[in-house]
Amino acid sequence: MEKLVIRGGVPLAGKVRISGAKNAVLPIITAAILAKDTCYIRGVPRLADVDAMVQLLNHFGLQCTWNGDIVSIDAVNLNNFEAPYEHVSRLRASFLVMGPLLARYGHARVSLPGGCKIGTRPIDLHLKGFMCLGAEISTEKGYIEAKVKGRLKGARVYLDFPSVGATENIMMAAVLAEGVTSIENAAEEPEIVDLANFLNSMGAKISGAGTNLLVIEGVSSLKGTDYTVIPDRVEAGTFMVAAAITGGDIYLENVIIEHIEPIIAKLEETGSKVIYYEQGIRVIGQEKIMPVDIRTLPYPGFPTDMQAQISSLLTKAEGTSVITETIFENRFMHTKELARMGADISVEGRVAVIRGVREIHGAQVQATDLRGGAALILAGLAARGETELYFIHHLDRGYERLEEKFCGLGADIIRAEDLKKVTIA
Ligand code: UD1
Repeated sequence: MEKLVIRGGVPLAGKVRISGAKNAVLPIITAAILAKDTCYIRGVPRLADVDAMVQLLNHFGLQCTWNGDIVSIDAVNLNNFEAPYEHVSRLRASFLVMGPLLARYGHARVSLPGGCKIGTRPIDLHLKGFMCLGAEISTEKGYIEAKVKGRLKGARVYLDFPSVGATENIMMAAVLAEGVTSIENAAEEPEIVDLANFLNSMGAKISGAGTNLLVIEGVSSLKGTDYTVIPDRVEAGTFMVAAAITGGDIYLENVIIEHIEPIIAKLEETGSKVIYYEQGIRVIGQEKIMPVDIRTLPYPGFPTDMQAQISSLLTKAEGTSVITETIFENRFMHTKELARMGADISVEGRVAVIRGVREIHGAQVQATDLRGGAALILAGLAARGETELYFIHHLDRGYERLEEKFCGLGADIIRAEDLKKVTIA
């Protein structure tokens, strides 16, 4: 088993380049199914999740090729409409193939994603949208099958919650529908805007992306395109917290300031200094960390994907912080691991109370999920002594060359083989 060994206490300093956004790239790759010819997607991060999505498209018969950070996807030879359990259980986002397959071929069979560690994560809103557009949905032996005779029909879809995945899946289904679709109470995340921009560059007619009302005028076909994805706001946020928690000074390039405003606002409340430049942003950590209260919310609220990382910072604040997680029901697993490092955190339901301590120390801990793992690296960087972080495959799902980037900023992190057998708690 691989582990990361982190020797903490070094204030990180220097420049880091942020990679393309995982959560933008995954739906964009699936949207390439809709094209009659080849899509070139640029700025694609080399991540386990992206590799898994590319493999799924290859399984459908598409030809996907990597060339540096460019993935080209030729959708001419699609010959399979089934996303098997092995894939969907590895990568929940593979459920996003349902919308494009249904739109282009009128047929899709996708394994039910099931729950995951951070919550039950149902897909009822995705299915409600497909049914509004005229699809027939059936479930058998753990698979969902969606079918439509002819084209889907434009319709009004109201989402009970602004789900990111449901907005994306329904938008991809609606682009080739007959007539106009509106998605009300749609998610407004930057990744939704990026997907809409990608689809529009293929010839789709989507307006309102970035607001809670999306209007999609169906077109009869879409062509290939050449598109660069947005930078990853969660990766950016993670490095910003790294500067804050180590009392460091980090310049981040390749960021879109607007996308990280909610993170900047909270970091400034904790006392970190943030300086804006034309091409990037600089975060300077301060000795004194102020406590803050945080409530995760859909964009432009504070992102749930940054909740774990900022929890690590608040373990060192001078006072008590309260974090309320409103998006997922089980997203505080990292707090137990932080407690092993000396943090004082109590969790009740969706609320975590963090009482700042003077110092956290190294310990053996395990990454419980992707962002929880990032939180533990951050804590390890700020801790006295050595931290051994296990189950780091979670991190490889969503952070490109993570330890290399941290080491470039002066961190002392090595990846090592561990022969001990560590079991999941
Ligand atoms: C996406 C992101 C994830 C992020 C999340 C919220 C990707 C690949 N993943 O996940 O990193 O944390 O947005 O910003 O982009 N829900 C339902 N029914 C549905 C769909 C969702 O009840 O049909 C609920 C979920 O259980 C969850 C909440 O809505 O409690 C938010 O989920 P959603 O916005 O759909 O997140 P994902 O698209 O899964």
